[in-house]
Amino acid sequence: MSFFESLRERDRVFDFMTPQASTVDVRHGPILYMEDVTVSFDGFKAINKLNLTIDDGELRCIIGPNGAGKTTMMDIITGKTRPNEGSVWFGSRHNLLKMNEPEIASLGIGRKFQKPTVFEALSVFENLELAMAADKRIFPTLTARMTGETRDRIEEVLTTIGLTELRFQPAGILSHGQKQWLEIGMLLMQRPRLLLVDEPVAGMTEQEMERTAELLTRLAGKQSVVVVEHDMGFVRSIARKVTVLHQGSVLAEGSMDQVASDPSVVEVYLGADDEEAA
Ligand SMILES: Nc1ncnc2c1ncn2[C@@H]1O[C@H](COP(=O)(O)OP(=O)(O)O)[C@@H](O)[C@H]1O
Ligand SMILES: [Mg+2]
Repeated sequence: MSFFESLRERDRVFDFMTPQASTVDVRHGPILYMEDVTVSFDGFKAINKLNLTIDDGELRCIIGPNGAGKTTMMDIITGKTRPNEGSVWFGSRHNLLKMNEPEIASLGIGRKFQKPTVFEALSVFENLELAMAADKRIFPTLTARMTGETRDRIEEVLTTIGLTELRFQPAGILSHGQKQWLEIGMLLMQRPRLLLVDEPVAGMTEQEMERTAELLTRLAGKQSVVVVEHDMGFVRSIARKVTVLHQGSVLAEGSMDQVASDPSVVEVYLGADDEEAA
């Protein structure tokens, strides 16, 4: 066995030992379960007795006025912010409040921030390759020799995000929308079970928005997707179930039509400046 082969062998063993997304147990319930979660910043409750469950494979949209607690909610799920009270579980086996950010990420929770952060000088293909290597954590450069499996996964993700034709182009030449898709692709390389996406269509053209709607709709089912989005037209185009957050709690939940006609939701939105409402 060559030196490199032995490293790869070792990699496989470590992969086996690392907690994998497949250990998430959803047989008896949702993939994400938040109960009575409260977060105070200097006495101000940004999240206030929040209850939220996301089913395996679900596509959920979260809307709510500015300051409703949407970003804080994602910070709690990913371990960036610790709640003062409540429980947060990933499947029935993983208590997220007992885990740190890298541990939570390695369970298969991927987060897409608003601004795309791709490596502009590298090709689309290399960006995806790097996203895979970053997950290995052990000797990333030494073991960077690509396996056939990695190559297949990259091709699969390229098809999903619609960038196959551009795979050897530097990411720097991509449009804003294409960069967003590439970053979603980079998250997909790690086969997440739950994807959290913050305002994916901000700054996109109409056509890019339509393709993003298709992409997110296609991803759901294979993984659970939670989308926070300001653009109501976009939410309407992808929404199955919508959760309206207000003052750190769930104000309403249901189909887009149900929540849009809910008097308490109407009141919150009429009270808010149009620009500020999300
Ligand atoms: N680190 C922090 N320190 C103090 N206040 C914060 C912090 N993060 C968020 N907040 C406050 O918590 C509330 C919810 O914020 P946020 O989750 O960003 O809302 P949204 O994403 O829905 O606009 C806001 O009033 C915000 O000012
Ligand atoms: Mg926010």
